[in-house]
Amino acid sequence: MTKLYSDYVKSDFRSFKSDKQFITAPIYYVNGAPHLGHLYTSIAVDILHRFMSIFGESYFSIGTDEHGQKVEQSAQKNNCEVQKYVDDMYAPFHQLMKVANIQYDSFIRTSSEKHKSNVLHFWNKLLDSGDTYEDSYKGWYATRDEQFYAEDEVEDRYIKNSKRKVAKISGSPVEWMEEKCTFFKLSKYNDELLDYYKKNKSLIGPNARYNEVIGMLEARIPDLAITRSRFSWGISCGNGQVIYVWVDALSNYITAMGDNVDYWINDMIHIIGKDILKFHAIYWPALLLSTGYPMPKRIYAHGWWTVNEDKMSKSLGNVVEPFDLIEKYGIDPVRYCIMREMSFGQDGDFSHDRMKNRVNTELVNVIGNLVQRVLAFTWKEFGETLTINDLEDQDLELLKNWDECLENSFEAMKKQQIHVYLEEVRKVIVKTNQYIDFTAPWKCESEEKKRILAVGIECIKRLALIIYPVMPGSSEKILEMIGCDCKISNWFVPLQQKALDKPSGLFNRI
Ligand code: MSP
Repeated sequence: MTKLYSDYVKSDFRSFKSDKQFITAPIYYVNGAPHLGHLYTSIAVDILHRFMSIFGESYFSIGTDEHGQKVEQSAQKNNCEVQKYVDDMYAPFHQLMKVANIQYDSFIRTSSEKHKSNVLHFWNKLLDSGDTYEDSYKGWYATRDEQFYAEDEVEDRYIKNSKRKVAKISGSPVEWMEEKCTFFKLSKYNDELLDYYKKNKSLIGPNARYNEVIGMLEARIPDLAITRSRFSWGISCGNGQVIYVWVDALSNYITAMGDNVDYWINDMIHIIGKDILKFHAIYWPALLLSTGYPMPKRIYAHGWWTVNEDKMSKSLGNVVEPFDLIEKYGIDPVRYCIMREMSFGQDGDFSHDRMKNRVNTELVNVIGNLVQRVLAFTWKEFGETLTINDLEDQDLELLKNWDECLENSFEAMKKQQIHVYLEEVRKVIVKTNQYIDFTAPWKCESEEKKRILAVGIECIKRLALIIYPVMPGSSEKILEMIGCDCKISNWFVPLQQKALDKPSGLFNRI
């Protein structure tokens, strides 16, 4: 039965409303070069930010974590003055943001004056809260992890034939530390946090991470040493002490909000790797409670990459270099493939073979093929885009599949399920390719051919609108070819006729 496109739009229009979000990526240590893990977190947050920006307000912060003993030691190893060292080491992280098309609103360097004065402000609030006291710390510290470990969290291991005390969880060497420092009464907040998380189960995701946090709180958390005196590369808080690097680093989220802290802080969503869960789900919320700020709205931890089933590490020589990766495959394929490769929240394994395979099958054969064949055929036959008008049942069904895809993607992305969104998109593209195969416009008479291709181009427009968060460059390229602005409000707006140029391929086969 023939129906008018305009009737379908009236009957099927759905509106989406997204909550405001202040979404954060971790800030990266500058004691080494950026690697795949940094690229992955940055891209994930960028996708979540771009997606929600389509429907509402989103603010995105990222940056570099430049203080602490680990960074100081690296500078010393490199015979370099520390500020000069961090200036040099920060540069590639900043450059990576450009190359990877990361559209942040705020990039915080913790060695900046702006951040330092903000941390001191936060620090004074903390002292005013009455939740700090002076004592001496005796215990294990792993500089590599910049964290303290309890006696039952360390063990002896043989490293290169010599016995070393290491943290069980990370394998990082620990050293015995005894120093006078300021403590934060973290234990005071133990029950309040436990209670809060038990009442708000969706605050931490995925579920396994929620359970991990509950487990840590049930085992009880001791007070936290929040100053250090054995080195000086940090924010000085008097008495020859510097503020513990994690208090300094976590405060970057407040620096990022700047003068708009009251506007954003209720909407804070932290995206982190699973290794830094305790800092974000226990230390940070307790510090916020103590200083009178609201709790984060959500904390979501992603998994870790291995490379060809091995841990990614300098000593194994298998570190995946982000700049090389982007150079080799192009940024949009990298953004798409690494997000497809692992479910967001689970661990995953990187291999060039799988990467190539995914580019060739999903990007070239599925997405590229759909765009190319519809546009090339329309260009050849009509020389211009076609406006959608009459619809047959099968056309309507396909367009409704696209609407469902948008709706399901939206629901998934509210819960940071990037992999669900990408799978929804892939499924509907496959259906659209099947529709083209089935209707075979090349065999049809002129009017029918026109109708099918108009539906095809309408789907390509929607494809471009919905892949924008993950592949912004390719999305813009398609939209430019068909003369459409990159706005989700164009989802239902029919395309105006526009002269087509011969379409060029979107993705290169590898
Ligand atoms: N500076 C702290 C974060 C402070 S946030 C207030 C830090 N920096 S880091 O450079 O070591 O790690 C930054 C992020 O990269 C973390 O979220 C971490 O999980 C992530 N990754 C580091 N290696 C990774 C993989 N192999 N795979 C995936 N992500 C990993 O921690």
